[in-house]
Amino acid sequence: MIPKVSRTHWFTVDAEGFRQLQVGREPWKLVKELVANAWDEPITRCELSVEPHRDDPDNLTYLACKDDSRLGFADLQSARTFFRRTSKRRNPAARGRFNLGEKEILSVARWARIVTTSGTLVFDGDGHVKSDPESKTDRGTTIELVIPWGEAERQEIVTKLRSFLPPRLKALSVNGEPVPHRKPGHEIKCSLETVLEDESGLRPTTRRTRVHVHKATGAGGCVYELGVPVVELADCPYLIDVQQKVPVSPNRDTLRPAYLKDLLAEVLNHVAEDLTEENVSATWVRAASEDERASNETLKTVQRKRWGDKVALWSSDPHANERAVARGYALVHARTLSPEERRRFVKDVGIRHASSLFPEQLREAKPIPQDKWTASMRAIAGIFRRVGGKLLAQSVEIRWIHEFKMAHSASYGNGTLALNKAHLAGWHRDSRLRAEHLKVLVHELAHEGPIGELEHAPEFRRRLERLAGELAMLALEEPAMFSWSD
Ligand SMILES: Nc1ncnc2c1ncn2[C@@H]1O[C@H](COP(=O)(O)OP(=O)(O)O)[C@@H](O)[C@H]1O
Ligand SMILES: [Mg+2]
Repeated sequence: MIPKVSRTHWFTVDAEGFRQLQVGREPWKLVKELVANAWDEPITRCELSVEPHRDDPDNLTYLACKDDSRLGFADLQSARTFFRRTSKRRNPAARGRFNLGEKEILSVARWARIVTTSGTLVFDGDGHVKSDPESKTDRGTTIELVIPWGEAERQEIVTKLRSFLPPRLKALSVNGEPVPHRKPGHEIKCSLETVLEDESGLRPTTRRTRVHVHKATGAGGCVYELGVPVVELADCPYLIDVQQKVPVSPNRDTLRPAYLKDLLAEVLNHVAEDLTEENVSATWVRAASEDERASNETLKTVQRKRWGDKVALWSSDPHANERAVARGYALVHARTLSPEERRRFVKDVGIRHASSLFPEQLREAKPIPQDKWTASMRAIAGIFRRVGGKLLAQSVEIRWIHEFKMAHSASYGNGTLALNKAHLAGWHRDSRLRAEHLKVLVHELAHEGPIGELEHAPEFRRRLERLAGELAMLALEEPAMFSWSD
């Protein structure tokens, strides 16, 4: 049997070193842990006060966080114990998991006191913690701290705390003023990565949750974990409040880009219609557009708002670009799209190159006069006219042209089939019908119809198959149609 390992005395904590890691962080990010802890408890309200300290108002702040939890600290010593397991690790709707948050703000305090249901702890300036199990509350916890922060820090804390999104039944007030509960504009149900405890510890897992989306009132947007801000999104006009544990780093202010993209894509699927020409190119929309979760329909909306209904990818063929612009198309240079955006917009939404939308128009090139045609050219034109006319049940005009610069060897549209002698090697000297001739004919005739240019559309393939079948029948039933004569 493998002996059970004890690691009880492996580590100690250097409080001064810990303080040094916290002191440079934005003060409100330390304060938010107190609110997060209160909200994790069965409370109805959390009252935060941030005041100048009477002894030195310019340089010291008195901060108090009071809740009315019927439980309070079950074990007073947990306020001094780092990383101890808590039942919150099993609860996806609790924010806590590290057992670290309140120690961060305690570490930068000059003095602190925790009065709770299991007693009182006083952290004093001579390096000691005094515990008094007798002075306790009936319900609720009050954490008081004296911290070397001045007026600027206090203001920043108050402003940031007002941007919290209190859950419906857990009121928050800051210096006596309630922070309002807000009804979300959208409520999204989706699966998102989270962390939960299994037998051995915390692990990433995916879980269905709700995401509350609010219109941002101030400058930028933000991702929230159960009402507590985690990551700011400078150019996003939404507050995105995930209703389960968010996979944050221990400082609770970073998210992996892949998680963020998933989340933003879920939001984009709900708000794409509200985007405007001004904000559709924001980085958050672009990040979300790259994600598999953004639906094709969402991307079409983004495309429409970003470039308009008619959009083509810039082509290295300047004539194709000109033709696209002349028909009112916006040209997008592929270089301005990230590789992922290009993949989504080109593959999934179907933005096409100008050259494929508007290929060189062989039919518009100058035709070779009929008196310059060889006997072979006349014979091929005759077969194509007869067979094409029969298969399409309409007259088909055949033109021969000679254009080396145009890449295509044949082109069909509006009842005219153009054959490019420059790229149909040897055709003008042929002496009998070959499969190659009929292959070109069938392909070109399949362009007849509303989706004429879309060679990759399934409809095009169905036409090819039908034409091939009909062509074979025609050859059997009316072989004279295929006779090589001019
Ligand atoms: N206001 C409070 N009421 C009850 N317990 C609290 C309160 N504040 C902190 N605690 C206790 O402190 C610890 C906070 O840890 P937790 O929130 O899980 O960690 P973190 O926020 O760092 O992920 C837990 O042991 C919790 O029981
Ligand atoms: Mg916490």
